Amino acid sequence: MEFAVDLQPAHVRFGVGARELLPEECDRLGVGRVLLVCTPSGAARYRTVADALGSRLVATFAEAEPHCPEPVVERCRALWRSAGADGVVTVGGGSTIGLGKILTAEERAKFVCIPTTYSGSEMTDIFGRKIGREKRTARNPACRAHTVLYDPELTLGLPRHETVTTGMNSLAHAVEALYPPLPNPVAFVIAREALRAHRDGLPGAAANPTDIDARSQALYGGFLGGLLVGMTGIALHHRLCHVLGGLFDLPHGETNSVVLAHVVAYNAAAAPEAARAISDVFGDVEPARAIDAFARRIGAPTSLREIGMPEDGVDAVVKETLARGGWNPRAPDEASLRELVRAAWDGQRPQIHATSEANRIT
Ligand SMILES: [Fe+2]
Repeated sequence: MEFAVDLQPAHVRFGVGARELLPEECDRLGVGRVLLVCTPSGAARYRTVADALGSRLVATFAEAEPHCPEPVVERCRALWRSAGADGVVTVGGGSTIGLGKILTAEERAKFVCIPTTYSGSEMTDIFGRKIGREKRTARNPACRAHTVLYDPELTLGLPRHETVTTGMNSLAHAVEALYPPLPNPVAFVIAREALRAHRDGLPGAAANPTDIDARSQALYGGFLGGLLVGMTGIALHHRLCHVLGGLFDLPHGETNSVVLAHVVAYNAAAAPEAARAISDVFGDVEPARAIDAFARRIGAPTSLREIGMPEDGVDAVVKETLARGGWNPRAPDEASLRELVRAAWDGQRPQIHATSEANRIT
């Protein structure tokens, strides 16, 4: 047996009511003065987090915005310094987590992260900010959260659209972890579990936002997906999504929702073990059809047109994606990639290329 695996340190607590562990975690990290970071609507929605912090809470920054625009970062940093804080607690999705990572990497904050979406950002060392119109991202282990608290109760108010789009992003993290550039049996097992958790969680969470069991499964899947990004990296699917985001400012969860089934169809014959794992979990001999049906069932976007990509942008996407190179189990060529992007723009069903005998459900 031969494999390669990167494991990252993070203290994780998961469970209904996990926010009540905040005082214990602050003590463990030696944090006495906390800056709480959330979005403008988060201050009221997550009042119980502020309550759990008690007298440790010295300031609240409730101005987090998507992509961490530089003026927001600097206002947050100024409050961090003027409050004399020694720890940051974020509650919310990627925009709050991004600020926590910046304070941790650049101000040496102790960071307790409470994620309320399924993107998995809290488990990665990838962070960024927006300077003018340009998004800059970097990897830095120093930005990592010291503790991550997953409390499914805090996700009950996540709107349906964010539920399904961050869920599909996480599902994509699991799919791409099934075929890493170097064999990784550890990631494979975790990826299968992430697929199962999302299969069991997302439909219920989308249909009934207050279904705590469904929310718990989806949040568990989100955690596993974030872990997998750090373990195995990305392939063609995420490269395509990043190109679409960069060229047309399309949101990440939405592009993931549309593109995933098409890339699964594209890669299925070249990654038979991955295809079989998806088929097994979703109970459909065609993995791409399974992902497509799942996305439609939970009400995720299914065309690039509906999320704002211009029709004449297809060639630019193909050119930029090919120029980036990088790992994928099936090397992309210009003609097939154009066909894929065109079908995704149009909202077509994924094109099933070949059904492998080995892909029978067991
Ligand atoms: Fe992603």
